[in-house]
Amino acid sequence: MMRAVVLLLLGLVASCRAEFAPPTVNISLDEDPELRWAPLLKVFDVEYLKKAAAEVIDTTVPKWVHQLGKPIVMVLEKYMPQPYAGEIRGLASYLGGDLADVVILNFAYEISAVKVKSSYACVPRFCTSIVAQDKNGHVYHGRNLDYPHPVLRNLTVNVVFHKNGKTLEEAEDFQDAVMRLSKIPIITGVYYIVGGVKAGEGAVITRDRTGPADIWPLDTLYGGWYRVETNFDHWLPPPARDHRREAANKALNATGQDHINLDTLYEASTD
Ligand SMILES: *[C@@H]1O[C@H](CO)[C@@H](O)[C@H](O)[C@H]1NC(C)=O
Ligand SMILES: *[C@@H]1O[C@H](CO)[C@@H](O)[C@H](O)[C@H]1NC(C)=O
Ligand SMILES: *[C@@H]1O[C@H](CO)[C@@H](O)[C@H](O)[C@H]1NC(C)=O
Repeated sequence: MMRAVVLLLLGLVASCRAEFAPPTVNISLDEDPELRWAPLLKVFDVEYLKKAAAEVIDTTVPKWVHQLGKPIVMVLEKYMPQPYAGEIRGLASYLGGDLADVVILNFAYEISAVKVKSSYACVPRFCTSIVAQDKNGHVYHGRNLDYPHPVLRNLTVNVVFHKNGKTLEEAEDFQDAVMRLSKIPIITGVYYIVGGVKAGEGAVITRDRTGPADIWPLDTLYGGWYRVETNFDHWLPPPARDHRREAANKALNATGQDHINLDTLYEASTD
């Protein structure tokens, strides 16, 4: 099964690599769904967003599917549950764009999951994610770009969700967040790479649509000071032509727990 890789950093990011620090936006879940993503417009240029949207659609969705699909998508939109329908409608209105296109964009991953099965060639361009812990108990979290669309590079953003004026909707702490991420039904399989703020708080959750397939936590007492996730279940060997897991493991072994920090992690995840 094809799964996306989602990296979640719980708690505060102490420092970001200086070359490019993505902007941070607060999204309030108390706001009307149609309005809550408006803060994105403060950090991104609308013209650039439109260009990125057009590029992703052009390269992901075949033209005839795109044209043929629009009426179908509009029907789908009627059945999309809240708050997603409202959020998508809001985004379409900020972009002054076509609602069908924004709906399609939100399913670009599911659409490309189908495509990837038939054209394996683009898989190695998907991402590598790492969660690691140094000797002092600091947890680090790194990943490279998930989607094969360079235009998205400039659209990286840190999102802090607020509800009732507080950060993170329901989870009490790291354990609780992992349990929630493991159980909540989702529409397609996914890998969640989760990092917390305290020693030991790191895990890779392999998800099926209905629940967890596997939870793989850091296990520093027994040498498990890092976990690497690419796009394959960690307990299975990756396809022979995909060397990302091996390369990241090698780089991390060479670095060692004594020398892991944001810079060495960056090197390991871009090797
Ligand atoms: C986001 O919310 C925090 C409080 O949680 C506040 O300190 C910060 O200024 C807000 N940032 C923006 C861009 O509104
Ligand atoms: C990202 O933004 C930078 C600076 O604005 C620009 O030079 C670069 O071409 C952009 N990259 C892409 C892939 O659009
Ligand atoms: C990395 O080190 C671990 C623990 O010593 C070892 O099991 C693994 O085979 C090493 N991986 C690579 C690619 O060197």
